[in-house]
Amino acid sequence: MSHLGNMPWKLPCALTVLALLSEISAQTQYKTLSNGASMPVVNLGFWQASCPSRMANTWLKNGNSGIDEAWVYRNQPRCAWGIEDSGVLRSNIFMTSKVWRMDGYVHARSQILETLFQLDMDYVDLMLIHWPQGPDMKGTWRAMEVLVNQGKIKNIGVSNFKKDDIDKLLSFATIKPVVNQIPYNIYEHDESLVEHCHSRGIAIESYSPLGTGQMGIIKNSQLQAIGKKYHKTAAQVAIKWIVQQGHLVAVLASSEKHQQEDVDMFSWSLTSSEMDEISRISSSTSLHSKKRVILGGLHHAV
Ligand SMILES: NC(=O)c1ccc[n+]([C@@H]2O[C@H](COP(=O)([O-])OP(=O)(O)OC[C@H]3O[C@@H](n4cnc5c(N)ncnc54)[C@H](OP(=O)(O)O)[C@@H]3O)[C@@H](O)[C@H]2O)c1
Repeated sequence: MSHLGNMPWKLPCALTVLALLSEISAQTQYKTLSNGASMPVVNLGFWQASCPSRMANTWLKNGNSGIDEAWVYRNQPRCAWGIEDSGVLRSNIFMTSKVWRMDGYVHARSQILETLFQLDMDYVDLMLIHWPQGPDMKGTWRAMEVLVNQGKIKNIGVSNFKKDDIDKLLSFATIKPVVNQIPYNIYEHDESLVEHCHSRGIAIESYSPLGTGQMGIIKNSQLQAIGKKYHKTAAQVAIKWIVQQGHLVAVLASSEKHQQEDVDMFSWSLTSSEMDEISRISSSTSLHSKKRVILGGLHHAV
């Protein structure tokens, strides 16, 4: 009976916790992957992040959970400082990282263990092969599968994989990839690759949803006109177009304002004719403004 006697005092506290939890789940919307795992729809990207520690801190403190890192971004330790300082429980964070290239079992295993050390984490939620480059896809994937079985990785996937790369991987994978992270925005969207992945149970995660901020998406007048109706910016409409198709997103947003805008995706919808209009933008825009070059293996918009 004594615990019942305490209840009136504990109730406000319990209600506060419940309110906080519902706030977190309202902010972080999840997608169920083909293996049943849940992944946040909007993830904060850290490629070329100006202040990784502050970014991660603000993101998590505001109730978001998805973080998109990579060994090659060379800022995982600084991201980890921000995570630790936020005080957010590990179980409320969805951590993605990427192993650079496909240089085989030993290379992949040591790089992933180094990533865990850099992040000061016992496991990552999602590990991707960053690029389908390198001589040993099979050994690299095997290293990831073994680390899944050892509890160091929860889910595995790929990035920048084309159709042939996907099918090669599936020919020997014991654990199937759940995600292919690819460039996907209003100017570059390979729908046949999307279809190929979906038919094999692989979700699409868009990277560079705003064209790295350099492809004119943020100032696109068609997106601005559509956004006006909903009191949203062109950037928000560009991300919403991706999210409304059911894709995951990794977006770089340094400021708290941009972070808040980029997760404000779930209380409004674009009409189907607006979705179609946005899908047609890429074919009506000159190739010049959307050209990308690959510098040091990483995409840059020019
Ligand atoms: N797998 C791969 O090979 C690969 C390759 C490239 C990128 N990625 C991942 O994808 C993430 C995102 O892609 P990205 O870095 O190329 O860039 P992006 O997300 O397409 O664009 C980032 C730019 O958009 C701006 N921005 C963000 N939210 C905004 C808003 N609400 N309004 C106006 N501007 C806004 C940012 O400005 P502020 O910073 O000032 O907020 C920044 O200049 C990367 O950080 C990385 O995690 C993966």
